Amino acid sequence: MRPSISTLVYILAGSVLAKSIPPSSERRSLTRGEYALKEGPLDTDWTNKVGTNPWPEYPRPQLARSKWKTLNGLWGWRNASSGRELDNPPFGVPLDQPVLVPFCLESALSGVMGEYHIWSWYETTFNVPSDWSGHITLNFGAVDHTTTVFVNRRKVGEHVGGYWSFSFDITQYLNEPGQTNELLVFVYDPTTMDGTQIVSGKQNLQSKRFDHIFYTPCSGIWQTVWLEAVPTEYITQLDVSAAADGKVNATVHNSGTTSLPVDITIYEPYSTDVKAQAIGKSGNPFQFMVESPKVWSPNTPTLYNISVKMGDDIVQSYTGFRTVSRGVINGVQRPLLNGEFVFQFGTLDQGFWPDGIYTPPSHEAMVYDLLKLKEVGFNMLRKHIKVETALFYKACDELGLMLIQDMPSLSPWRGLTAVNDFTRELDILIEQHKSYPSIVSWMLYNEGWGQPGDNGKTEHLLTDRIRQLDPTRLVNSVSGWHDHVAGDFSDNHHYASAQCGMPLHQGTTVKFYDKTRIGIQGEFGGIGTNVSEANLWKVPAAVAAIDQTYEMADDIPTWNFRAHWLLKELEAQIATYACSAAVWTQTTDVEGEVNGLLTYDRRVIRMDIEQWKDDIQAMYKAAEGRGKQAAPMD
Ligand SMILES: *[C@@H]1O[C@H](CO)[C@@H](O)[C@H](O)[C@H]1NC(C)=O
Ligand SMILES: *[C@@H]1O[C@H](CO)[C@@H](O)[C@H](O)[C@H]1NC(C)=O
Ligand SMILES: *[C@@H]1O[C@H](CO)[C@@H](O)[C@H](O)[C@H]1NC(C)=O
Ligand SMILES: *[C@@H]1O[C@H](CO)[C@@H](O)[C@H](O)[C@H]1NC(C)=O
Repeated sequence: MRPSISTLVYILAGSVLAKSIPPSSERRSLTRGEYALKEGPLDTDWTNKVGTNPWPEYPRPQLARSKWKTLNGLWGWRNASSGRELDNPPFGVPLDQPVLVPFCLESALSGVMGEYHIWSWYETTFNVPSDWSGHITLNFGAVDHTTTVFVNRRKVGEHVGGYWSFSFDITQYLNEPGQTNELLVFVYDPTTMDGTQIVSGKQNLQSKRFDHIFYTPCSGIWQTVWLEAVPTEYITQLDVSAAADGKVNATVHNSGTTSLPVDITIYEPYSTDVKAQAIGKSGNPFQFMVESPKVWSPNTPTLYNISVKMGDDIVQSYTGFRTVSRGVINGVQRPLLNGEFVFQFGTLDQGFWPDGIYTPPSHEAMVYDLLKLKEVGFNMLRKHIKVETALFYKACDELGLMLIQDMPSLSPWRGLTAVNDFTRELDILIEQHKSYPSIVSWMLYNEGWGQPGDNGKTEHLLTDRIRQLDPTRLVNSVSGWHDHVAGDFSDNHHYASAQCGMPLHQGTTVKFYDKTRIGIQGEFGGIGTNVSEANLWKVPAAVAAIDQTYEMADDIPTWNFRAHWLLKELEAQIATYACSAAVWTQTTDVEGEVNGLLTYDRRVIRMDIEQWKDDIQAMYKAAEGRGKQAAPMD
C-alpha cells in the first residue's frame, strides 16, 4: 500500500524532528490534516479558483495603511463542547482540523462544512515582518458571533457581534522580533439556538428551519484577518461626509487620549494633484469647503482620494460628494440625491453564496453580481439584513450603486427580546459604515422581525437615535408590515405585483401608503422558475421548500413575460401615483428560493437582458416625467 500524502508528511516531520525541533508553526502544519475543499450542495465558477490564499486584497479601503499582512489562509480548528473550554484554552496543542480562513465553518470552502457550530477553537501562528516598527494591530473584518482572542497564551480581548470589524493593539503580547507568535481564537455562535436571541439576519440552525426564507448559518471567522503596523498613537477611525456643495465634515479618531493636529488632503480623481487641504484636531469634527467638486451619483460615481496625517500616522481613504435629502415635488414626497429626485430601482440583495455562505468566493465573484445589476440598469441595492465587507461598499461606491442598508434582524420567531443588544449593534452599523457615499438610507425593521410589539415606541426611539448618529441620510424605519409613522418612508411589501405609493388600504388599520412620507415598494417580484439538477442547491429540505416560492413560471420565457408585466405595472404606478423607489426580489436564488435574476451558482441568467434594460429605462423616464427639482424641505 502506498503511504498517503499525510502519512508521508508525517514521516518527513519525524525525521526533521529527530534533527532539530522546528518552530511551532511548522510542527502544526505538519501534524494537521490536509485541507480539502468540500463538495458542497452547489458550487460556482469561482469555487475551484480560490486556492489557499483567499481574499488577498487590502480589506479596509477607507482607512488604509501600507504596512499590513493578511493572516487569511489555512488555520487549525476544532469543535468545542461548551463555553467552559475558555477556562482551559488548548495552548500549544495543535488543532487537528484545517480550516480555510475567512470562510465560515458551514461553507464548502472552509474545508469543514459542518452543522451546529456553536463553540469553536481556531489557531494559527504568525511572524511580524522584520522591517515593521512601532505598534502592531490585529484586525478582524468580521467573526460570527462572540470572539475571544489569545496571543502567546495571554488573553487580548473579546468582541461581541457577528457583522462588525474590530481590532486589538497586540504589541505587548508579542514575542521578541523574529520569533513566531501563537494566535488562538475562541468563537461562540448560538445563531438560533434555544434560549438565545442574537442579531443574526437570515441565518438559521438547520434543525430550526421553519421555511424556505431562512438559510444555512455562518459561524466563525468570515472576513479577512490581518496585521498592521501603526505608530504609538494612530488613527483608529476616520469619518468623512462630503456634500454636493463641497462641504466636508471630518472626524479623525485617535488611539490615544490627547487631541493631536491632523492634516487632510483631497486629491483630484485619478491624479496626484491636490484638490483641497485642511487641518483639524483629532477627536473633534471639523468642516471645510472644497471648490466645485464633481458630484457622486449612479451615473457619475466620482470618488476623490484622501490622505490623512496625524503625527507619525498616515492613512489613505476616499470619499464622494453627494447630498441625500427629502423634498416635495409637485405635491409628492421624494428622496433627493444632490437636490434632485432620482427614482431608485434595486434588488433585494442577500449576499449568500453556495460555496462561501456569507463570504463570496472572491472579490471577482462579488463584483460579478454588481456588474450584472449595473449592466441591466439597476441603480440601487437593498442590502438585506446582512452587512458586507468594506470592499463590497467600495465596489458600490465605485460603480454607482445606491444602497439601502438594512440592520441585520433579530430572529423573527423567538420570544426573547434583545433590544439592548440590537441597539448597541445598530450604533456599530452606523458608526462603521457612515462614510460610504453609496449608502443613502438605513433600514431598521424588516417585516416586524425583532420589532417589539410596543405600538411603535422602540421604533420611534431608534429612528431618532439613527438620525442623531447620522443626520446625512434618510431612515426607513419599517420595511413592510407594522408601521407607526416613524422615519422617512412609507414602505409596502406586496408579492408578486407592486402597490407602490398608491392610496390603497386593507380594513381599517392597514394603509399601503401614507402620503406624509416617501412611498416605496420595499419588496415585490419574487417570481421564480425551477432549476435543473446542475444549478440546484442539493439539500433535500431546501428542494422540498421550492414550492413555497410566491409564484413559479414553468419556463424562463414565461418568467420574462411575467416580469415584463410586473415592471410595466410598476411603471404605471410611478407615472400616476407616488412611487419613488422599488426593490425586486431578488439578485440571485438562495438555497430553496428559486426567484433570482440569476441562479444561486450565478451560471444561469434568467433575465432577457434587452427586455429588462428597456423596462428599467422606461421606469426612470416615467419618474423624470413627474419632475426632478424641489426646494428642500426644512
Ligand atoms: C460540537 O460539539 C458539540 C458538543 O459536544 C456537539 O453537540 C456538536 O454537534 C459538535 N459540532 C460539530 C460541528 O462537530
Ligand atoms: C459632523 O459630523 C459629526 C459626526 O461625525 C456630527 O456630530 C456633527 O454635527 C457634524 N457637523 C456638521 C456641521 O455637520
Ligand atoms: C486612488 O488611489 C489609488 C492608489 O493610488 C488609485 O489606484 C486610484 O485610482 C485612486 N482613485 C481615485 C478616484 O483617484
Ligand atoms: C425542482 O427541480 C428539481 C430538480 O432539478 C426537482 O428535484 C424538484 O422536485 C423540483 N421542484 C419543483 C417544486 O418543481
